[in-house]
Amino acid sequence: MKVSAIELDSARKVYGHGASAMVALSDVDLSIGPGRFVSLIGPSGCGKSTLLRLVAGLETADGGSVRVHGVTPDQACAAKLIGFVPQTPALLPWRSVLGNVTLPQRINTAAARRRERIGDLGERGAGKAPPDMLELLRRAGLGEVVHRLPAQLSGGMQQRTAIVRAFGLQPDVMLMDEPFSALDEFTRETLQDQLLDLWDELKTTVLFITHSVQEAVRLSDTVVVMAPRPGRIVDVIDIDLPRPRNQRLFEQSSFHEYEDLIRDRLHRAWRSADAA
Ligand SMILES: Nc1ncnc2c1ncn2[C@@H]1O[C@H](COP(=O)(O)OP(=O)(O)O)[C@@H](O)[C@H]1O
Ligand SMILES: [Mg+2]
Repeated sequence: MKVSAIELDSARKVYGHGASAMVALSDVDLSIGPGRFVSLIGPSGCGKSTLLRLVAGLETADGGSVRVHGVTPDQACAAKLIGFVPQTPALLPWRSVLGNVTLPQRINTAAARRRERIGDLGERGAGKAPPDMLELLRRAGLGEVVHRLPAQLSGGMQQRTAIVRAFGLQPDVMLMDEPFSALDEFTRETLQDQLLDLWDELKTTVLFITHSVQEAVRLSDTVVVMAPRPGRIVDVIDIDLPRPRNQRLFEQSSFHEYEDLIRDRLHRAWRSADAA
């Protein structure tokens, strides 16, 4: 039996106690196969970041279970299975672009041994060669700026550096919390292209949070719609559109039909939030 890359079983997260207890996630079931690109979308406060943080091992579930390739998030983190890209890129200001993206590789020795003990990673298990970071930077359009400091880069370039750094460790699971939401539309579309290229080449499983319906449909194999109070999954929609998904996609009626469908489900999620 194939083990899911990410598996949540009746996962529950409650913040606070007694009368002020707040159910951030209620009975969340989600199973994501290896190599899939899955987006989470839903009104603010519906638990998207909480779900991501449970998978990343930054929070622990109060009920149910969370597994990454069959092991706990803590074990998966120790084996460097997980990459995390937050909303704002946390680059070291005194290191160059190249210095920032190569640092994690240099401090990544014990992880290979831990990976060997985790089954079902197949050829992605032990002993994979580290990627050529200069080449990854070039492909992300950063070839000219590898020696610059973060402060000398635009916001889009900083975010690209953070994404290359995260992919550089070749994590099996990449968790991204609204990584493009602070960027203008043009930069955002360019970064979407580059993310899809990296994902396609490195065969990473991606769990991606966005506020943009268009972005969710363009990028994803599956879009998961969430609703708040309590935070929960209300819809799981497979996006059956061919890849590669380039700019021509926006001219196709099937693309817009998916957008309409997800907008409709989101409106329902908002109405249920208002009614609560
Ligand atoms: N550390 C925390 N302590 C208390 N409440 C929290 C904490 N983190 C999140 N919450 C609450 O849990 C709910 C879900 O938050 P979050 O996962 O950040 O939602 P989203 O990312 O969908 O906007 C919100 O009501 C939020 O206020
Ligand atoms: Mg959030």
